[in-house]
Amino acid sequence: MKYSAESVVKGLTALNYVFTTSRQQSVGEYSSSDAEWNYNDVPHLSEVHELAKAVQCAVGDKYTTSIVIQKIGPFRFPIIMNIYSLSSSENFYFTTLGPYVLLVKTSWTSENQRTTVVTRYFLGSTKFLKMSHKLVHMVLAKNYRILMEADLPMRHRRGYLRSQKYSFAGDLTGNSFLESLNLHREGVIPPFDQTAVFWQSNINAIAPGTTLVGTDDNSGFRLVRNADHLEIFPRICMHAGASLDYAKFKDGCVLCPWHGKSIAPILKVDLTRDLEIYESNGVKVKLSYPSVFISGLYKS
Ligand code: FES
Ligand SMILES: [Fe+2]
Repeated sequence: MKYSAESVVKGLTALNYVFTTSRQQSVGEYSSSDAEWNYNDVPHLSEVHELAKAVQCAVGDKYTTSIVIQKIGPFRFPIIMNIYSLSSSENFYFTTLGPYVLLVKTSWTSENQRTTVVTRYFLGSTKFLKMSHKLVHMVLAKNYRILMEADLPMRHRRGYLRSQKYSFAGDLTGNSFLESLNLHREGVIPPFDQTAVFWQSNINAIAPGTTLVGTDDNSGFRLVRNADHLEIFPRICMHAGASLDYAKFKDGCVLCPWHGKSIAPILKVDLTRDLEIYESNGVKVKLSYPSVFISGLYKS
């Protein structure tokens, strides 16, 4: 049995708590499944949100409960956060902040790949503290803006991929909190009719560092030159669709910016060799001095 925010407000009002509400809204070119995915995505919280780090206590398909260490100014506050999915278009969060009760209802609706997300905050306390509610709502509004700075680019990236005919694993089955922890899952479904890359360059013309080839999805590669070696990385993370164009490196791999997955190069090419062919994951590299030819479509 799950109760709505309104029902919890009613219960606490009967205990002489008073509530005030505020509302935030965002609109963007992505689908309602992308909003659900983002709200039910447990691991991104610690990766993309600078001010909050979470330690999970229990996670199921339709709920998660965690201890969030929230940074506010120079202070860090532990908050017990409970989130559950009321439906595929509504989540309910509840927590307490010192003498306050905070209930958050987030719902989303879509029309033609344009999604509106409405977040309503229900702030409760004893009557005595009601005067301070305005200030707390202002802090909540600021926190919402900070959260959206990191979340909206993720949703827009998925919206962009959809415009390129991509779809995602959760579109039909829904986006589970529990499944979001599985970084081995390949949630990106590329279109059938993609155009393969054909790229050619003089070996000496490839600059040190990163060169981006093709488009920032399966039809593209991130080349990384280091002296006489060329590494070929994907430009898309097949877990959930992040762009890897500016992903940082660690131990020879790129680190996906959304959930921290470590992604090894598809191929490592020794540029001093001639008439050599390297092949892996749908990508082919041919060395024929003084040129290098790269072709294919990335398949993980
Ligand atoms: S999109 Fe999840 S790890 Fe890359
Ligand atoms: Fe987020």
